[in-house]
Amino acid sequence: MYQVRPYRPQDRKAVWTLAADTAFFGAPVEQFLDDRALFCAAFVACYTDHELARLWVAESSGAVAGYVMGCSDSRRRTRIFGTHILSTVLRGMLQRRYHVGRKTLRFGLRLLQELLERAIPTVPLERFPGHLHVNVGAQARGRGIGRALLETCLAQFWVTGVSGVHVMTTDHNRAACHLYETLGFRLLDARQTRLWRGLVAGEVQNRAYGIMSDW
Ligand SMILES: CC(C)(COP(=O)(O)OP(=O)(O)OC[C@H]1O[C@@H](n2cnc3c(N)ncnc32)[C@H](O)[C@@H]1OP(=O)(O)O)[C@@H](O)C(=O)NCCC(=O)NCCS
Repeated sequence: MYQVRPYRPQDRKAVWTLAADTAFFGAPVEQFLDDRALFCAAFVACYTDHELARLWVAESSGAVAGYVMGCSDSRRRTRIFGTHILSTVLRGMLQRRYHVGRKTLRFGLRLLQELLERAIPTVPLERFPGHLHVNVGAQARGRGIGRALLETCLAQFWVTGVSGVHVMTTDHNRAACHLYETLGFRLLDARQTRLWRGLVAGEVQNRAYGIMSDW
């Protein structure tokens, strides 16, 4: 049994752990980064520390088994990243608070390449201003938790007047693509990426899906 409920500040550690444990196509982030604290500071803190109202967790046997975190205004998230997150991460790197080894340098360079090669799908933000990320722990998958989290988060978006929401994923996140498509998301853009070359078998396609409240 599980229960979907709003995030509480005391869930922060569990959500950070789960985010790091599932960051690599559902497996731990250490497959491509040296330090999970760096990953969470860069990619999770913007939600747990700035967008608490759009965060939901699934609790099972007293533990956080999954979460969905979103933002109603993706441009605002980009601004928070520029004004708060980036400086915290860079300061932490300068103070040697994070382990920055070969994996991290390779990932950083590839991310840069990804931006230069325009491998990130485009999303018309005026139509799909909101976005979300969903992850469920490996032991808890296949029990309906991901679908329940997404339905709860989408219902909150619609009731609070957000007209459209997008998600970023890849064709290798098969369960996620299936869930988005069966919930009514439509593919907005897809682009081949070299980000994961040598880390997963075969070519990977970045995908952006979108859904609107009146579809
Ligand atoms: C995607 C994820 C959040 C789904 O959570 P979940 O609790 O396992 O999802 P549910 O149990 O609600 O539903 C899973 C659905 O995917 C389907 N599914 C599972 N594995 C699948 C696969 N390999 N290919 C296609 N569909 C698959 C299930 O049949 C089920 O569909 P149904 O409800 O129509 O029967 C979870 O698997 C996860 O965290 N995966 C790893 C990280 C990830 O991909 N996150 C999303 C990043 S964009």
